[in-house]
Amino acid sequence: MTIYLDNAATSFPKPESVYQALDQLARTSLANPGRAGHKMALAAERTLDDCRHLLNQFFHGKDPERWIFTLNGTDALNMAFKGILNDGAHVVTTDLEHNSVSRPLRALELAGRISLTRVHADGSGTVDPDAVRSAIQPGTRLIAVTHASNVLGTVQPVAEIGRIARERDIPFLVDAAQTAGVIPIDIQSMNIDLLAFPGHKSLFGPTGTGALYVGPQAKLRPWREGGTGGDSSSETQPRELPYYLEGGTPNVLGIAGLAAGVRYVQERGLDSIHAHEMDLVERLWRYLESKSLRVFGHRDPTRRVATISFACDTLGAAELGGILDESFDIAIRPGLHCAPYIHRSLGTFPEGAVRVSPGPFNTAEDIDALTAALDEILL
Ligand code: ALA
Repeated sequence: MTIYLDNAATSFPKPESVYQALDQLARTSLANPGRAGHKMALAAERTLDDCRHLLNQFFHGKDPERWIFTLNGTDALNMAFKGILNDGAHVVTTDLEHNSVSRPLRALELAGRISLTRVHADGSGTVDPDAVRSAIQPGTRLIAVTHASNVLGTVQPVAEIGRIARERDIPFLVDAAQTAGVIPIDIQSMNIDLLAFPGHKSLFGPTGTGALYVGPQAKLRPWREGGTGGDSSSETQPRELPYYLEGGTPNVLGIAGLAAGVRYVQERGLDSIHAHEMDLVERLWRYLESKSLRVFGHRDPTRRVATISFACDTLGAAELGGILDESFDIAIRPGLHCAPYIHRSLGTFPEGAVRVSPGPFNTAEDIDALTAALDEILL
């Protein structure tokens, strides 16, 4: 049986309740929501409403209708960028970003449509809010920051950055791909206008799920237009949320699984999940340190999630990852992790690093199996 330590990419396994929710919905009410008045269509619509309410409560948003379902985190981010940015806008972002943030922004910059300032993280992988403040220009129309680096696991001071954004009346976008489900997020107190995340990581939904929260101060153009089930006579997208930004048949099945995943997190508790994962990280960190391997990021458990990257001077990351998979059946992620800018800063470009990301279902024995394998490989 594979020892799965790649939860930063997608969580596995899912809680039993998620498998049950998927099975039950698929067998009883997998109809097209809102497209007809029959009972199954209404049940499918209720599945979506239920998840919007749950997300709104969990992240303390303003209204359930402000939650737009997306295909994944990247889709949510593209919807935000392409919906909010006008030609000539300046955007402040960071060098910690995943390609899901940096590629769409860089493409707009290369097309001459926006300008971009990328604030650098410090040696431990944290962005200084004052550096964000200094990067703001008169034309800044968006601040876009990851909540936690998917390479280093370091959690960013989003509440402080949100305060700065609000003082300047600049929309604030947070990419919560690595934190939604493990680190508390309060949209209103953190002054977040746009929150984007995939459903399939620490919220335990299946792949193909994600969401974008659109706050009252974020004015978005629709990025995906089409059928919404209602208001069919309207020649263009109905103005009402969530339909203004949602078009086409949604992933009802995935959203039922996502709702079950959010409930699992609520029941087990963010603190308990985070504490469990931090014990595993600390166990691994002690081993890596004892072997003089280069470990990146912040060790303080209050400032990180369970994503730990390291580099070995004698063996490349890809080779090490391949041996762990082939010979020990241990799944980790080597390479650049779709985050080239931070690897350049770490000095690990282009080979990358080895990333290990335990989840709530991993055990100390899983970490011990990994360290025993590393002992054999690295001798
Ligand atoms: N964004 C995912 C990762 O970091 C895929 O692995």
